[in-house]
Amino acid sequence: MAVIPVDIAGHPYEVRIGAGLLAELVTHCRGRLRKRTVPIVTDANVHAAWGDVLEGALRENGHEPRWRILPPGEASKSWQQLAATVDWLLAEEVERGDSILALGGGVIGDLTGFAASILKRGCHFIQIPTSLLAQVDSSVGGKTAINTAAGKNLVGAFHQPSLVLADLAVLDTLPERELRAGYAEVVKYGLIGDADFFGWCDSNGAAMLNGDGALREFAVATSVAAKARIVAADERETSGIRALLNLGHTFGHALEAETGFSDRLLHGEAVALGMVLAARYSARRELMPRATAEHVARHIAEAGLPSELSALSLDCDGPALAAHMLHDKKMDAGTLPFVLMKGIGEAFLAKDVELKDVAAFLDAQLKR
Ligand SMILES: NC(=O)c1ccc[n+]([C@@H]2O[C@H](COP(=O)([O-])OP(=O)(O)OC[C@H]3O[C@@H](n4cnc5c(N)ncnc54)[C@H](O)[C@@H]3O)[C@@H](O)[C@H]2O)c1
Ligand SMILES: [Zn+2]
Repeated sequence: MAVIPVDIAGHPYEVRIGAGLLAELVTHCRGRLRKRTVPIVTDANVHAAWGDVLEGALRENGHEPRWRILPPGEASKSWQQLAATVDWLLAEEVERGDSILALGGGVIGDLTGFAASILKRGCHFIQIPTSLLAQVDSSVGGKTAINTAAGKNLVGAFHQPSLVLADLAVLDTLPERELRAGYAEVVKYGLIGDADFFGWCDSNGAAMLNGDGALREFAVATSVAAKARIVAADERETSGIRALLNLGHTFGHALEAETGFSDRLLHGEAVALGMVLAARYSARRELMPRATAEHVARHIAEAGLPSELSALSLDCDGPALAAHMLHDKKMDAGTLPFVLMKGIGEAFLAKDVELKDVAAFLDAQLKR
């Protein structure tokens, strides 16, 4: 098992990573499960695959699990599900010192974390991430949110979990497409600040995706350690360090918006292509060699992720795609900070990017 500390001032916690943690849950949560009943929020897919394991682990130790099982999918990050979940937690008489368990992917983690942040002005919650994306990204760092008619993740709170348990065994039931999508966020940490880790991904990514346990532990632990370093340095994204985690995301969000946030393009797939675009755009601006950008594109393609904008057959031009960026949360007084690269492992925040230039670049990429 790997244990990664997240040293956030005032709310330090640990991320424990290993195979079989779900079955040992009560040992890991020692002192945190104060009552016989334990509230767990999950979705129907995760409940079907892992509900029994968690149920057994709790009952063996005299606890009674109380389940709230939501429909799988992004639509559950809604005002309606938030209200219903908070009402359910109140009906369950959850107190501030109790711990709510969030068992699922990023959807469940974001919704449950937000519910925990407002329940009685903030109560404890434990993240038990079950998708690769949630294990390496969304369960760590304390961003919680729901979606509204105006857009994704526009309503939320910073609320850190008190513990994160990433059981690598649960990845065995994760659909392969979701696993690959999560891998995009793993590669991201290499591209942001760790060329050696990108090299490791080049050599070991395929075997990791194929299920090698030791490689999975290394990939998740290295990713979590990178995220922990960044969020400990800049919890609320004020100094610009945390913004580096958005590498590939400004392009990615435009692609998600253009494809209607649908199954056509999963978040991780959009980020994968978004990182290729960020690399190629960096090369266009002569910040790094074109060959380096193509190395990134090759790695993404070899992982079974989208690497060519033209292959998406989008029904729009570059300016229309760039227009989606105007609605980006990061937009600040008319300028959009963009994460670009000087090389692999050398991401930086550029503040002088003109949307018109990005639109022309996207036009060329659409026609490649
Ligand atoms: N808070 C953050 O910092 C942060 C960071 C990145 C992403 N996010 C959010 O995370 C969400 C995406 O997360 P996600 O990709 O995990 O999506 P998700 O929660 O929808 O999970 C993806 C799919 O996999 C299924 N699933 C999850 N674990 C499984 C398992 N072990 N076995 C079988 N099926 C399983 C789910 O039921 C779902 O159908 C988005 O809403 C995004 O905004 C948040
Ligand atoms: Zn992401």
